[in-house]
Amino acid sequence: MYKIITKQELAAKIKLLEVNAPDIAAKAKPGQFIILVVDETGERIPLTIADYNIVKGTVTFIFNEVGKTTKQLGSLNEGDSIVNIAGPLGVPSEIKKFGRVLCVGGGVMIAPLHLQVKALREAGNDVTTVIGARGEDLLIFEQKMKKVSNKVYIVTDDGSRGFKGFDFLKELLKAESFQRAIVMGPVIMMETVSEISKSFNIPTMVTVTPIMVDGMGMCGVCRVTVGGETKFACIDGPEFDGHQVDFEELVKRQRLFLPEERLSSMFWEKLGGGCHRER
Ligand SMILES: Cc1cc2nc3c(=O)[nH]c(=O)nc-3n(C[C@H](O)[C@H](O)[C@H](O)COP(=O)(O)OP(=O)(O)OC[C@H]3O[C@@H](n4cnc5c(N)ncnc54)[C@H](O)[C@@H]3O)c2cc1C
Ligand code: FES
Repeated sequence: MYKIITKQELAAKIKLLEVNAPDIAAKAKPGQFIILVVDETGERIPLTIADYNIVKGTVTFIFNEVGKTTKQLGSLNEGDSIVNIAGPLGVPSEIKKFGRVLCVGGGVMIAPLHLQVKALREAGNDVTTVIGARGEDLLIFEQKMKKVSNKVYIVTDDGSRGFKGFDFLKELLKAESFQRAIVMGPVIMMETVSEISKSFNIPTMVTVTPIMVDGMGMCGVCRVTVGGETKFACIDGPEFDGHQVDFEELVKRQRLFLPEERLSSMFWEKLGGGCHRER
């Protein structure tokens, strides 16, 4: 059992849980993820490690309540326990001195990006960070990013804060040069940023988030096409070359079980958060 030490609501439906998991904290690296099971009958869901503390023996993850399992997870409180957490999983991000690095984060994935920005700075890079959300009220980690980045730009879809949309990136890339870009966020955002960075020849890594089951390279559910080859995001990724990822296929595969997911979420809400059956 993995006890919840800290719970915070960072924005509407965006929650942070710090969990006691010393074995995972001891091995975790930026870019890796865990797969958790909320209770004995729950499904397995992957979440990126947003922070870890070897001394306290804790791991932190931040999630958006989008469906049944994330809503169930968000209903837990400090002192409650999560029945199982497997990890750290996936290939850690490559952290070394690249020079000038552009880090772009969207939505809830700004949180794990923060861990990468911190590590890239410690490795001697000059890091410009761009963080984006649908609107100002959903923007997380602004102050934390300002502490670890050389420069921070803000983007919102509705223009309520900072630049409206990612078009300003073209101007930024015309004015400044970068040796690498790291992008974490919704698929459409990663695709847009990768298209822009490609036209400036900036090697770009994106973190893909397909549906996963075992997280061990056996079920094949997480397959993505990268440069025409089939890769398993759980063991070959989740970070891949953004100029090579087939984003269209990724979106299609993410939506494979949409009707079942909606039904499961509806049952969960109708039963007042008491339906613990797997979808
Ligand atoms: C390697 C990896 C790391 C991830 N890290 C995080 C993280 O740090 N924080 C976080 O909030 N989420 C993260 N995700 C996504 C998270 O796993 C899903 O949101 C979660 O499984 C949804 O479960 P659910 O039962 O609540 O919703 P579901 O009922 O499964 O889905 C509800 C809605 O969310 C959409 N959805 C489901 N899974 C995904 C997905 N993988 N990507 C995009 N949309 C999805 C569905 O299409 C549907 O519209 C990660 C996914 C992967 C593969
Ligand atoms: S989740 Fe099963 S192979 Fe990746």
